[in-house]
Amino acid sequence: MIRSVLAGAGGYLPGRVVSNDEMAALVDTSDAWIRERTGIHQRYRAEGEETTTSMAVIAGRRALEMAGATAAEVDLIIVATSTPDQAFPSVAVRVQAGLGVDHGFGFDVSAACAGFVYALSIADEMIRAGRARGALIIGSEVFSRILDYGDRGTCVLFGDGAGAVFLRAAEGDGAQGVLSTHLHAQGSLGDILYVDGAVGVTDAAGAPMPGKLRMHGREVFRHAVQRLSESVEEALAANGLAHDAVDWLVPHQANIRIIEGMGRKLGLAPERVVITVDRHANTSAASIPLALAEAMGDGRIQHGQLVLMEALGGGLVWGSALVRI
Ligand code: UT7
Repeated sequence: MIRSVLAGAGGYLPGRVVSNDEMAALVDTSDAWIRERTGIHQRYRAEGEETTTSMAVIAGRRALEMAGATAAEVDLIIVATSTPDQAFPSVAVRVQAGLGVDHGFGFDVSAACAGFVYALSIADEMIRAGRARGALIIGSEVFSRILDYGDRGTCVLFGDGAGAVFLRAAEGDGAQGVLSTHLHAQGSLGDILYVDGAVGVTDAAGAPMPGKLRMHGREVFRHAVQRLSESVEEALAANGLAHDAVDWLVPHQANIRIIEGMGRKLGLAPERVVITVDRHANTSAASIPLALAEAMGDGRIQHGQLVLMEALGGGLVWGSALVRI
């Protein structure tokens, strides 16, 4: 039996830190409101030459380093992003070139904040099917470039960054690796969280207009609480596991209230929930691999432990994954 073992994780955050006070100089908000309603203290912003691709390359390289893997082992690259640098080529093939990988294949996945879980699921299926032995899964986003800085309800929530994991095929008894993934979508809710504008739309001067993020926050919050709960129960039930089997919750980082609520539902001690939203804000598809990279890198998440991941994003799309590290 082939399993996908999560052999390494890496993250990258741009150098520019933007504080809540700095956001309060742009829109009618306050450090106190942002902290209390979201748990966010600051966010990172890509500037100058930094792109979705350049951040993805660094995060990918760091994941390979932790896994002790070389470019020759990378058969498949999947980048989850809603902010690709170009319509095509994909970020994934740009990353392939950036890492000096000269074989295999790659593509991007568009599943908003659930993009990493979607990409992980696809890579796991391809590894199990024997289509790849090594897969680099990356979430990389520059949401700062699709935010409306006149809308206080959204512009304070997001940050930029990239996170990556390397999956390696392993034969064995199946104790280690991706145990299961669970994906869902409800397209009829597409208008509660979306990016307006479209490829090819230009302003009066003919310049491209990439569109801005729009969100009905309260509605998304309501769906997130319900769907994410269902999704983690689904993952545990599929593996015949109870709540107390989970060693770590590594959730999408949208709002501390959603994250802590999920931790309580699972009966997890607060220190068993990996939290980055305070420093990173919501980095969409990058948030789970960034959190994994941090908690694996500092030794909190240990070999043999069971990690539960969950995410929901614009679509709506959502899902979960259970992985034994
Ligand atoms: O990653 C993808 C998935 N995304 C999520 O899961 C996000 C889910 N949603 C949320 O996290 C929360 O709904 C938000 C953080 C977006 C908003 O928090 P909320 O507690 O749901 O606030 P609200 O939208 O109900 O707004 C409450 C009040 C409103 O004022 P009134 O109408 O009560 O006078 C807003 O205008 O807070 C106001 N408000 C703000 N005030 C200060 C909204 N944004 C801000 C702000 N600063 N930045």
